[in-house]
Amino acid sequence: MVGQTSDSTLELKSNKLPLSLRLPTFDDVPAAVEILANKANSEFDKSICDATPEELDAVATRWTIVTDPPVYRNFLVFYEDKPVGITGFGWIGPCDESQGSDDSSLAGAAGIIVQPLARGKGIAYEALRLVFEYGFRELGLKEIRVGSHSGNLPMWMLMERKFGVKTIKTAEVDRFGNDLLWIITRPEEVL
Ligand SMILES: CC(C)(COP(=O)(O)OP(=O)(O)OC[C@H]1O[C@@H](n2cnc3c(N)ncnc32)[C@H](O)[C@@H]1OP(=O)(O)O)[C@@H](O)C(=O)NCCC(=O)NCCS
Repeated sequence: MVGQTSDSTLELKSNKLPLSLRLPTFDDVPAAVEILANKANSEFDKSICDATPEELDAVATRWTIVTDPPVYRNFLVFYEDKPVGITGFGWIGPCDESQGSDDSSLAGAAGIIVQPLARGKGIAYEALRLVFEYGFRELGLKEIRVGSHSGNLPMWMLMERKFGVKTIKTAEVDRFGNDLLWIITRPEEVL
């Protein structure tokens, strides 16, 4: 991988809520694992619901490394300085994977987890809003994709009602357990 660095300084701050998104440092790994290991957070996420604590530790440790070009970028969500969730891009790659390296425009797959006790305060909306802005402005993404399962009403409502993004229902459930997809394209003003 080209240009691996440990960049613990990257922080996205909200001006609406006492909320900030920080790249996890090695010391944050246990907090990230605790969030990933909570079954209430992974009910609809096939990529982590059956993972062992060691596998979750490896996942969270990987997030402490920033790669250039980016292939993922995940943040720990802090609310009133306490870690309450995880958000960011679990995957960053070519918009059209069939074009391979010929396609220089990047897409990102975004996600959000908020611990049950912190839900209902607008944290997911504000955290994802910051992630979308960061993805378009700083990472130069052309497209952001969000996936979920149709049984996940909170996520469905968050994307469709709160963000106002059209829901695409896919014919089959993908390998992450998703049958709903939202695609957000880079707004004109960021070009
Ligand atoms: C989905 C999730 C992230 C929402 O987090 P949250 O911080 O409680 O969400 P917010 O408070 O920002 O809510 C924003 C909007 O989402 C929708 N929403 C959130 N919870 C909802 C619920 N229980 N029922 C219906 N709609 C809901 C509403 O439209 C809400 O806007 P409103 O409060 O103005 O009505 C949270 O439930 C979660 O972490 N679930 C487990 C992980 C997961 O499934 N993540 C999605 C996969 S990427």
